Amino acid sequence: MHNNPLWHQLHEKAKQPQVRDLRALWQQADRHQLLTYECENLYLDLSKNWIDSSAIGLLCELATHAKLKPAIEALFEGQVVNTTDQLPATHTQLRDPDNRAYSKNLDRLFALADQVTGGHIKTAFGEPVKQLVNIGIGGSYLGPRLVVEAITELQSESLIPVYFAASVDDALINQLFQSIDIRHCLFCISSKSFSTVETLMNARAVEQKLKQLPGYQPTEHNSSLMAITANTPKARAAGIPSSMILPFEETIGGRFSLWSAIGFPIVLAAGKEQFLALLKGAHQMDCHYREQPFASNIPVLMALMTVWYRNFIGLDAYGCLPYDARLRSLPKWLQQLMMESAGKMHNIDGEVITYPTTPWVFGDHGQLSQHAFFQAFHQGVDALPLDFIGVLEKDSDSQNFLLFNLIAQGAALMSGKEEDHSMKGCPGNKPSTTLLMKDISAQTVGQLLAMYEHMVYSLSVIWNINCFDQPGVELGKAIARDIAEHVANNTLNDMALDPSTLSLIKKVMEH
Ligand code: F6P
Repeated sequence: MHNNPLWHQLHEKAKQPQVRDLRALWQQADRHQLLTYECENLYLDLSKNWIDSSAIGLLCELATHAKLKPAIEALFEGQVVNTTDQLPATHTQLRDPDNRAYSKNLDRLFALADQVTGGHIKTAFGEPVKQLVNIGIGGSYLGPRLVVEAITELQSESLIPVYFAASVDDALINQLFQSIDIRHCLFCISSKSFSTVETLMNARAVEQKLKQLPGYQPTEHNSSLMAITANTPKARAAGIPSSMILPFEETIGGRFSLWSAIGFPIVLAAGKEQFLALLKGAHQMDCHYREQPFASNIPVLMALMTVWYRNFIGLDAYGCLPYDARLRSLPKWLQQLMMESAGKMHNIDGEVITYPTTPWVFGDHGQLSQHAFFQAFHQGVDALPLDFIGVLEKDSDSQNFLLFNLIAQGAALMSGKEEDHSMKGCPGNKPSTTLLMKDISAQTVGQLLAMYEHMVYSLSVIWNINCFDQPGVELGKAIARDIAEHVANNTLNDMALDPSTLSLIKKVMEH
């Protein structure tokens, strides 16, 4: 990719001082008009970024050169896009009402949800289900958690309250058991592979605790455990009754799975209508992504901005700052989506690449971050691209206060302030993007999340990497398994470990 002339032109463009100078960039009269975009319930303002329309034009050409358009078609047509596993990635099919996969997914999901909410499925204590605990991690946790938080706080209360257990932590499980109504609780083991150690350990810990309780009598019909997985044989082997297993397809990537059976906690918490609205919003973004020219295609533009900052301007971080507590889990979800998908150093042909890929994604609820790390944005020596995300919806004093804070931060970063005492001054000229959501309905949340999914897919096409695998994560897991085995067999010294690692393990063992 970096051999083509566009790459060179973009490097030259990025070297021009005026392209990194917001005051100079704002000399262009129609800048604001040129760099603001709308799609359904989202409004995107790129005008506070170190970019001009000629750079955007070159980046669009780069996307064309990278064959992004046919790659988008390949995604939607179910062609192999996960080249490592030789699989298509079919998450968009789950939100397309004209696709067979859509109704197959919903039929399974809603049938089980109806049985649970209708009281036909009983826990192993013979009681109807009134609560759900989702045991899962990574993509089997972050998406459902984000959506449950975002859309159920809209309703006065969740239909079925959902709790999440992700990391391995005895204290967390104990605390959970104290706060839930165990006899009425359904524990949902969410794991695509049904092999993730953290999830299986937590599931085992929960089962052990349940077994010690009086009245616990699991049968094929009464079960306190259910599974959501693409590996049904393993779930069956773990003793989950077939009727309590919600399957989904291997072609749904973990990070892209909230639309599948993995979204079951969302259906229980928010209801079927809300889940349908979520899918509808995502499908609207799918259509936009598939149909719009790059120059007005929001996910593509977001990807191009990332390429610009990462590969040409040379910035290596990316901040996600939602100014609404209901979206507090968005930064973590985006972090996994971007860093696990695009944290790659090999292209799809297995060759080592020479250009940087994912930035370090971080973020938090915007207002809380203001009082934590924004000082470094304003007066730190670095600049980094930031997404400020606001919700227009409520005309309340507190919502307006949040939005004015969001807007003020973008303005202050860009314009800065001169002071007599130089240490008090802020230099300004710090870039940011503003994304406003019309509301925080399920439909708009669907649009937002699909937008980021497509941004990441577009990045992977431009970077010529596979965004649907994560071989790197496997290495740490394999070493952890090895260490546990060697410790158990007292053969630690046989492991080819460096002195630091070896002594750390010994410290743990001594302790
Ligand atoms: O973190 C690695 C990972 O494989 C993610 O890609 C995935 O979302 C997560 O673990 C959980 O995997 P599973 O759903 O198979 O338990």
